[in-house]
Parts: sequence; C-alpha cells; structure tokens
Amino acid sequence: MFLKHVFMLFFLVTLVASVDNSFIYNGFQSSHLNLDGIAELTSNGLLKLTNDTERAKGYAFYPNPIVFKNTSNESVSSFSTTFVFAIRPQYPPFSGQGIVFVLSPTKGLPNSLPSQYLGLFNDSNNGNSNNHVFGVELDTRQDLQFDDINDNHVGIDINYLKSANSTPAGYYNDHGQFRELSLSNGFPIQVWIDYDGVKKKIDVTLAPMSVGASNKPTQPLLSLTKDLSSILNNRMYVGFSSSTGLLVASHYILGWSFKVNGQAQNLEISELPKLTVFAEVKKSKFLTVGLPLILLSLLFMITLGVIYYIKRKMFAEILEDWEHEYGPHRFKFKDLYFATKGFREKGLLGVGGFGRVYKGVIPSSKLEVAVKRVSHESRQGMREFVSEIVSIGRLRHRNLVHLHGYCRRKSELLLVYDYMPNGSLDNYLYNQPKVRLNWSQRYRIIKGVASGVVYLHEEWEKVVIHRDIKASNVLLDSEFNARLGDFGLSRLYDHGADPHTTHLAGTIGYLAPEHIRTGKATKFSDMFSFGAFLLEVACGRRPISNVGENESVILVDCVFECWKRGDILEAKDVNLGTNYVSEEVELVLKLGLLCSHSEPLARPGMRQVVQYLERDIPLPDLPSLSLSSSGLTFGYQEYFEDFPLSYPSSMDKTMSHTSVSISDSLLSGGR
Ligand SMILES: *[C@@H]1O[C@H](CO)[C@@H](O)[C@H](O)[C@H]1NC(C)=O
Ligand SMILES: *[C@@H]1O[C@H](CO)[C@@H](O)[C@H](O)[C@H]1NC(C)=O
Ligand SMILES: *[C@@H]1O[C@H](CO)[C@@H](O)[C@H](O)[C@H]1NC(C)=O
Ligand SMILES: *[C@@H]1O[C@H](CO)[C@@H](O)[C@H](O)[C@H]1NC(C)=O
Repeated sequence: MFLKHVFMLFFLVTLVASVDNSFIYNGFQSSHLNLDGIAELTSNGLLKLTNDTERAKGYAFYPNPIVFKNTSNESVSSFSTTFVFAIRPQYPPFSGQGIVFVLSPTKGLPNSLPSQYLGLFNDSNNGNSNNHVFGVELDTRQDLQFDDINDNHVGIDINYLKSANSTPAGYYNDHGQFRELSLSNGFPIQVWIDYDGVKKKIDVTLAPMSVGASNKPTQPLLSLTKDLSSILNNRMYVGFSSSTGLLVASHYILGWSFKVNGQAQNLEISELPKLTVFAEVKKSKFLTVGLPLILLSLLFMITLGVIYYIKRKMFAEILEDWEHEYGPHRFKFKDLYFATKGFREKGLLGVGGFGRVYKGVIPSSKLEVAVKRVSHESRQGMREFVSEIVSIGRLRHRNLVHLHGYCRRKSELLLVYDYMPNGSLDNYLYNQPKVRLNWSQRYRIIKGVASGVVYLHEEWEKVVIHRDIKASNVLLDSEFNARLGDFGLSRLYDHGADPHTTHLAGTIGYLAPEHIRTGKATKFSDMFSFGAFLLEVACGRRPISNVGENESVILVDCVFECWKRGDILEAKDVNLGTNYVSEEVELVLKLGLLCSHSEPLARPGMRQVVQYLERDIPLPDLPSLSLSSSGLTFGYQEYFEDFPLSYPSSMDKTMSHTSVSISDSLLSGGR
C-alpha cells in the first residue's frame, strides 16, 4: 500500500517534470501565455495577435522553455504542433502582414521590426546564423526584398526572412489535387507542422478547419529536409509572431497543441472559441426582430459597401513601403481627381510625348498645377525613377518648371507640375501661330533655357541629363519667361522591361547620332538637342518637316547650306520681319550648327553657350572649327541606317510625323 503511494508520487513528479514537453489549448480562456506587443486575449478566449493598428507587432509565447535536446551534441528531437488561425483584413482582400509559428531562444523578439519583417528580425540580424530562430510563416504580402513568391504563401524561415522553402498556400485533397487556400479569407484554417528528428525533415500541412474527425491531408503542402540540430538550442521558446504594415489585419489563433517526441494531441475543434461572424444569434427573437434588422442593416451595408468600393476603385493608388520616405512629395489620387475636376476634357492642356496633361487647382492650397498622366506598365525601375522624381522635385531654378510631386496608380504615374499659363513654345513658332514672338522675346527664351540647362548640367548637386530638350518641352509663364519641363521622363522608359524595344526615348531630329547608336544620354546629347532647339526658334521651323509626299526638309541642312553660301541669315524665320538684331540671329544660327556637330566633343558645353549668348566671349569662326558638311549630321540617310531599331519600312511615314518618339508606342508624337 505504502509502496503504491510512493510509486504514485514518483509518477506524479515525473509528470510535472515532463509537462513542458507537450501542451494543448482548445481556446485560451485560462492560459498563461506571455503576450507582447499588441497581442491580447479576447473575452471569449481567442488569442488576438494584432488588431487594425498599422505597423505593429503581436507576440504570444508559451511561458516555459521546451527541451529540444538534452546536450548540445545531441540532435534535435522530433516535434509536432497543430494550431488553428484566422486572418481578418481591415480591407479585404488586402491583408498585412501574416503570422509566424516561431521557435526562439528567448521568450520574445524585442528588437525586431513589424511590417515585412513579421516581428522576427531587424535589418541587422536578418539572415544571421546566430539568431537560432526557426519559423513557419503564413505570409499575406509579397515582399520582393525577401524573394516572396506571391502574396499568399507559406514558407519555412531559418534565421532569415528569405524562406528556405516556400509555396503558395493551399492543400492537397484525397486525390492528390492541389486546392488553393486564401490565408486571409477570414475563416479558420488549421496548420500542422511536424519535424522528424530521424529523417531530419520538416512537413507543413494546411487545411480549412473542419469539425469532426481530423481532416489533416495525407500529403503535406511544404517540406524541407534540414537538420535543425545546429539551428535550435537545447531549450527554446515556442510561440507566434505577427505583424501589420500599412495594410492591416486582425490575426487570430483559436487553438494550439504542441509536443516534443510524439504526435501533438488533436484539437477539440468544437470547443474552440468562435470568431464574431460565427457568433450565434439568440433563437427566440431572431425571426421577429433579429432577421429584419439584419436584412435592413445588410442592405445598408451593401449600399455603403458599393459606394465605398466604387470610390476605392476610382481612387485606388499604389503605395509601397519604400515610398514612405518620399511622403511629402506624394499626392493622393483623390486630391488630384478633385483638383482637375475629374480629369475632364475641358481641362486638357495638351497631349505631350509621355501622356495627357490637365489643368488643376489643389483645393487646400489653391495652387494652380498641371497634372501629367504617364502610363507605365512595368514596375521595373519605378523605385529609381521615383527617387529621381523626388530629387528633381528639389531642383529650383527660375527657368525650370517646378515639380511638386507625384502619385502612383496601377500602370500609371501622375506628375504634378507648376501650371504655365502660356503653354508650350512650339505653339508660337510653327503653323501660322495666332501670337508671334518677336526676336527679343525669342532671344530671352533661348537664354532662359540655356541657363536652366547649365543648372541641370553643372550647378546642381547631381548632373541631371534632360534627354528631351525641344520647343514643345519649353513652357512659358505669364510673362513669357521660358521654363524647361519634362526632365528625365524619358528615363522611365530606359528601364523598359521588354528587350524587344530599344530603350531609347526622345524625339527624332533632336536625338544625337551617338545617342541613337548607344542609347546612352549624356550632356553631349543634350547639347545636340539644344542645337536643334536653337535652330527651330530662330527659323520658326521644326528640325524635320515634310514638304510634299515623300520629301522631308532637314532644318540643319538648310541652315548649313545658307551658311556655305555666305548668307546664314537667309535661314531665319521670315515672320521675324525686320525687327531683329542680326548679330544675335546669326549667333544663334551658328551656335545651332556648332551644337549639331556629329562629333560629341566638338559641341560646346552649356556654360560656354551661355557665355556666347551673353556675348561675354565671341563665337569662334566656324571654318576654323573645321566644320564641314560631313562633320555635321546632315547625312540623315546614314543617320537612319544607324538606327538600332526594327523600324517600319516606310520611313516616309516616320518622317511625316514631325517628331516621333522611338520607344514604346506609348510615346506619341509631339503635340
Ligand atoms: C489595438 O490593441 C492595442 C492593445 O490592446 C490597443 O491599445 C489599441 O487601441 C488597439 N487598436 C485598435 C485600432 O483596435
Ligand atoms: C531529456 O532527458 C529527459 C530525462 O532523461 C528525457 O525525459 C527527455 O525525453 C530528454 N529530452 C530530449 C529532447 O531528448
Ligand atoms: C558529446 O558527448 C560526449 C558523451 O556523451 C562527450 O564526451 C563529449 O564531450 C560531447 N561533445 C561535445 C562537443 O559536447
Ligand atoms: C536587431 O536585433 C538584435 C537581436 O535582438 C539586436 O541585438 C540588435 O541590436 C538589433 N538591431 C537593431 C538595429 O535594432
């Protein structure tokens, strides 16, 4: 009798000592989990790891360490766990970020980051083998930084957010067919994680939660063969980590069972606490009061939902985490929509090389702006481009159009510029313009543009290559001061993803031959475009204009011919009348020729051009620069042969567009 008692006592003691090798929670009503971050237990026993707080973390750890091996040269024992979770996004279907089942050497991960870091690591320890962290992530966002495969995946993370193996969320049914499963559909999903200490293999299995017999699929979703002995310490803490980002969701755990050296005990599905939509409505008053009320509020909610959905769709924009540092430069699409009165045709200022431009007034500041909508399919290069846009936004010069900021939507970028009441310069040069500019206005415009380009090339902290200098990109403010716009835009297309298109954007007639050949824009190629611009302002003609069916006139050829004949002034715009300073016109025409030199190094620099225009230094004689027809790019035949493009065979068609952009068909002709 006594012996039996002793035996019982001994048995009990062993039980207590080994209790930490397994546990089960069918709901968390009376649990002593260690919670951290914004995690909390709800009154009905749900473990709510996060709520709708942005960029937050939530943790829950089993309070005692679990022994995974007794000595450090032993290998890790088998273990098994199963739990039920549910993810309820604030704005379905957009969820953020996910849940990780985690084994950690410490009871918590205090220095880690929320959002895409899932509360596991920070920038400095991510990927460090000293972490000794093992996790299985249920990730609802795609973070390219960590090579995530999609925005609904399961991954095995070993010391690193770049998963050792990952796969789209789902399960294999009895017939071995794969069924997709949305992690954030709001319904409970059961997960099984098993580590076989002999085969050194981890299996992860998912299935929608179902009451009754265990519905664990026989074929696991995701496996990884990896000996965890060097990863796990002898004693580890087990728990969950969850985080939210800009997109938020409530992450719930409904029940959890765990065991080392054996199969985790099955959860009592019917005993698990219920999520709100499953809350039972009291039967008695249900039909008389409840149902009509529910229907009514349902109707109300659907109406609200539809309105909300339409508004959301209409104003949807893309905002990625990395854009946060650019916050002040970012406009809300909604604000731009109202500023332009819904991008109505009446407010259309023009259709430029890269998109349509609308006039608008920002309601809060009454600022008059021009909003340019640039369509852009590829997301590649967008990050570099936006950072460039933002740095361009810091450019301040009286001859540059100020860029206030941007907004991104699906396949579209919106740029917000200062509004220029007098439109673009080309409207005053060709095709019998209503208002003609006299010579002194034109000369001032030329000097203004030159001074703007000097700033871009030499005076700002970084060299900015404009890439598309031409009259239609020169805008005029209320006093007809020139302001150069659209800088760097063509760069967006240089990053184009399609290898079949040439990564060259710009406008024929303004593109330097070496730029066409190499696709590389430089200060020199900007100088070439500037030369073409000088000639068009002085001559009132486009760089390439077509006369008759198949004939095109190359402006620089004409000017060169006139110069050779000894009368360069003959090339000037006849509309100038007699009211002009012939030395200035001559200077501009000669400078135009000089900048059109096919040899990049023979073109003057922009600062030099300003000095010529200001008459600080005299322009050298052209013959002394061995300027000859062959030195200029008059051989347009050869010019086109050099095109690295598979251009339509009918070059006439190309030529008939006075300015043709060469990249995607996105880039329409000039205004
Ligand atoms: C989220 O939970 C935290 C901690 O329980 C609480 O302080 C906060 O107000 C909650 N936020 C929301 C949006 O529910
Ligand atoms: C560690 O040793 C104890 C006592 O000998 C044993 O019960 C337990 O299973 C061992 N744990 C592991 C992970 O091997
Ligand atoms: C491994 O275990 C053996 C005996 O169990 C022990 O003698 C040896 O020192 C251990 N080695 C290490 C590296 O801990
Ligand atoms: C990152 O986390 C590690 C481990 O908790 C910590 O030692 C380190 O200070 C953290 N680094 C930063 C930059 O927060």
